[in-house]
Parts: sequence; structure tokens; C-alpha cells
Amino acid sequence: MMDRRQFAPATERNREPILSVLKTSLPDSGTVLEIASGSGEHAVFFAPVLRPLKWQPSNYDPEQLDNVEDWIAYQPSDNLLSPVSLDVTKPHWPVEKADYDGGAITAIFNANMIHISPWQTCEGLMAGARRILPVGGRLILYGPFKVNGEHTAPSNAKFESWLKSLDPSFAVRDIEVVSAEAKHNGLEHIATHPMPANNYIQIFEKS
Ligand SMILES: C[S@@+](CC[C@H](N)C(=O)[O-])C[C@H]1O[C@@H](n2cnc3c(N)ncnc32)[C@H](O)[C@@H]1O
Repeated sequence: MMDRRQFAPATERNREPILSVLKTSLPDSGTVLEIASGSGEHAVFFAPVLRPLKWQPSNYDPEQLDNVEDWIAYQPSDNLLSPVSLDVTKPHWPVEKADYDGGAITAIFNANMIHISPWQTCEGLMAGARRILPVGGRLILYGPFKVNGEHTAPSNAKFESWLKSLDPSFAVRDIEVVSAEAKHNGLEHIATHPMPANNYIQIFEKS
């Protein structure tokens, strides 16, 4: 059988530091919706450690959904659900109430998407979090951020030049601008955790 697993080396470097924050920031029960699961390596690493939470991977790219399926086949966990096709920019997600049998979504995790996609993905992410999360539910973002419009390291400025060469709409987002978009959707920015390699975890809570 063909093995469609993909390997993203950065996930091996960042998964332990991310996990240590997830352990203290996620709720005790329910289902964590992972937006933009990429290769699926985060999902298979986090899910077994975060029981009894369930973990719901997703992506809008069908090929990457196949990659995630194969990671799950290789490293299954009884709380790890089959990935769903989900484009954050759509006004309705397949995990919304009546259509979804994966349990109550109590948190959303998203790593490394809003800088390497158009700004509309951040708008869609916040709008979806507003629709889906319960009051007190958290949206946890991981990735690079600017602070007060400034890069936090020269390497991030270089990284942004590369992003813009891919697509001028891609950019390292400013945490104040992301927080304003969150607030517009009823989510408060409640915590910042500096991570290795000039990344951050940013936590938002639905009020
Ligand atoms: C750099 S990868 C990050 C993957 C993974 N989260 C990680 O940290 O390794 C960016 C991901 O964003 C996803 N993505 C981009 N636009 C999206 C959209 N509109 N809806 C859902 N996912 C999207 C891509 O398919 C890709 O998996």
C-alpha cells in the first residue's frame, strides 16, 4: 500500500514546546478542532497525550487530508478522529452542530496558517471560532507574530520577505491586528507564550 505520510521537520522541533502549553491551556473534556493540520504530525503526537480530549484534524487541501489519514493509520489513537475537509474562509464549517458527530468542540488549535495564506483566513478563523466555541472556549494560535507592527527578530523579517515572494497577501501578522479581529468576533486575547525560534502561542477566549 502507498504511504502518503509527509514529514515537516519543524513539527518535530516545535511539538514538545507547543504540547507543554496545550496541557495547561486546553479544557478537560470535549473535542479539540485542529485547523490546517498540514502533514498530520502534530495531530498524531498531541492526541494520545491529551486524552480524554478528542482531537479532530482538518484541512482544505485534499492531498494533505490523505497525508493526515496515513499518519493516523500509522500511529492511531482511539481519541483521534478522521480528518475533515474544512476551508476556514467558508461561512459554514462541516463540524457545525447538526452535521457533526465528533462530540462538542470545546477548543480550536491552529498552527502556522494565518501568515502563509491571505488575511481572509484569519477573518474566517475568527468568525468560525465565534460560531463554534462555547462561552469560555479557547482558540490557540501558534506561529510568528509582529508586536506593535515590528518584527520580533531579524530572521522573521527575512521570513516575511520570502512569504511575500510567494504571494504578496502573505505576511507575518501583527498580534494587535489579529486581536482586534478576534475582539470583533467576541474573542478576548488572554495570553501570550513565547516559543522557541521566535514564535508564539497566542490564546483567545470566547466571552
Ligand atoms: C505551513 S502549513 C502548517 C501546517 C501545520 N499546521 C503545521 O504547523 O505544520 C499551512 C497550512 O494551512 C492550510 N490552509 C491554508 N489556507 C487554508 C484555508 N483556507 N482553510 C484551511 N486550511 C488552510 C494549508 O493547507 C496548510 O496545511
